[in-house]
This record gives sequence, structure tokens and C-alpha cells, in this order.
Amino acid sequence: MSPPRTLFMLGKGGVGKTTCALALARALSSTARVTVVSLDPAHNLGDLAGVPLGRAPVTLMPGLEACEPDLEALSRERAEGAVDLIRAGYRHLDALSLGGLADLVQHAPGLEEQSALDALGAFVRDLPPEDVLVVDMPPTGLSVRMLALPALSLRWIECLAGLRRRIIERRASIAHVRGRQEQDRDHVMDRLGAERDGLALLCDLFENGAAHVLVVNPDPLSIAEAGRLREVLRRLGTDAARLVINRGSGTHEPAGGLADLPSTVLPDLGGSAREPGSLDKLGRLLAEELG
Ligand SMILES: Nc1ncnc2c1ncn2[C@@H]1O[C@H](COP(=O)(O)OP(=O)(O)O)[C@@H](O)[C@H]1O
Ligand SMILES: [Mg+2]
Repeated sequence: MSPPRTLFMLGKGGVGKTTCALALARALSSTARVTVVSLDPAHNLGDLAGVPLGRAPVTLMPGLEACEPDLEALSRERAEGAVDLIRAGYRHLDALSLGGLADLVQHAPGLEEQSALDALGAFVRDLPPEDVLVVDMPPTGLSVRMLALPALSLRWIECLAGLRRRIIERRASIAHVRGRQEQDRDHVMDRLGAERDGLALLCDLFENGAAHVLVVNPDPLSIAEAGRLREVLRRLGTDAARLVINRGSGTHEPAGGLADLPSTVLPDLGGSAREPGSLDKLGRLLAEELG
């Protein structure tokens, strides 16, 4: 099944990703069913929406649902699941001390971005293609690692699957010599296959399916950071769809490596930016070009 139409809001912390994500989601919800999800560990989508948010989607208005999964809790659950799996797989090896394993896995590198991808993957799999998914992405460092991870993990999975295939073949020939038949299904291979399918879906989404929106303020630091994000996208084989210059004015400096991108300038709304009327004003401007 095709994934929902997906828009990622990317950029430096504080430029207005959450504001733009909610504003756009509100605007698009007049014509489509929209889910806005924040993958930012800073948890401020709920603050902006004025509603406490968690893992399960909450209806903000007709046609618009929002959620904010707790990446720390998801990381903990994933680590615990991995430890259980290893324990179950090596139950027969009493000699192998697995005492410190839980601690080790809990602090494994890449766990936070993997958990964010798990949360994203669930929406991409479950939402129908006519829905819209707006993703408020974390600040650049974590976003970059998230974007890079599926392609990287896919290569790992291919290597592991090759290794497992050789084990299965060897087992089959030993069984043959002993005149026995090996089982057709291998649960490790099944698990690797499921992981591979999930990663391939996200790779395809990042490379071909989603619109990557770079949000900047008219300041050199956020523009430089968005330039680096664009480089990452290009290395993934894709490009940014649009540059949003938030809190800009009618005239703005053409941005370094971003000058050729189609851009939308959003006004500075001062202290009223969080009010529904202001969000709708920003949302209309965004939806005109991203709708
Ligand atoms: N167009 C705007 N005009 C005025 N203030 C804005 C505008 N966009 C965002 N802000 C304010 O800037 C701050 C950071 O915005 P936020 O959306 O939380 O950024 P990010 O999600 O990128 O960290 C918030 O206080 C928000 O209200
Ligand atoms: Mg934010």
C-alpha cells in the first residue's frame, strides 16, 4: 500500500518547525484528513496546541489529529525488547553471562533515532494514502541521523541476512548427512525480513515519497544549518522541496546554497504567533504552496 502524503519540517532548533507544522496541518485539515506528529524530544507540539499529547493521536479539530511520542520511553521499550529476544535466543547457553546486557543495550548508539523511525514507520504503514502526515522533525543533529539510518541499517540487514543464509545452508547439509529434514521457516530470517521491509519503506519515503521542507529564519546560522541539511538530503538521492523563511520580511537575502529553492516567506507575528488566528494565517500561506 502507498504511504500517506508526508511533509517533513526540518531546520535548526527555534526557527519555527513546530509552529509551521501545526499551522500547515490546521490549514490542510480543511480538505484532507491530517495527522501532525512531533518527533522532537523537546515536546512542544502539545504546548502549542494547548492539549497534552502523547503516543496515541488526539483529535485537535475535525480532520486533524496530533501526537507526540515519548522517544525516551520508546527507546527503553525497544532496548528491553532486544534484551528479551537475545535472552530467549541464548537460553540454552548458560555459560554466557548476560547480566550487563540490559545496560549495554539501553545505551546503544542510534537507539533514539531508531525509536523515532519506529514511531514514524507506524504512521507511514497505518495511514491511508489519501491522508496527510506532517512531521515536526527534531533539531538538525538528530534529524540527520534519522534520515541516514534506514539506508545504513538496510546494508547491515543485507549482511546479516547473508550470514544467516550461510548458517541455514550449513545446517541443512548437516541435517541431510544425518538423514533429517531441516525446518522450512527460520524465525531469525523472518525477523530480518520484517526489519528489512520496514527500513525499505522509510528509505523510499525519504528518497522519493516525502516533501522535505527546510525552515529557516533570516539569520546566517539557521541558513547555514539548512544548507547542510540540504547536502544530507542530496546525499540520500533527494532534495528539499521548499525553503520557508519564517519571521522574514518581504525582501530577504538570497540564502547561500538554498537560493535556487522555491521559497515561502512567513511574517514575524511577534508575541501573537501562538494564537489560533495567527497559526491559521501562517497555515494559509504555507498551504498555498505546499497544499
Ligand atoms: N512567524 C512567527 N512570528 C513570531 N514568532 C514566531 C513565528 N514562528 C515561530 N515563532 C516563535 O518562535 C519560537 C520557536 O518556534 P518553534 O515553532 O517552537 O520552533 P522549533 O520547533 O523550530 O524549535 C516560539 O516561541 C514561536 O512562538
Ligand atoms: Mg519544535
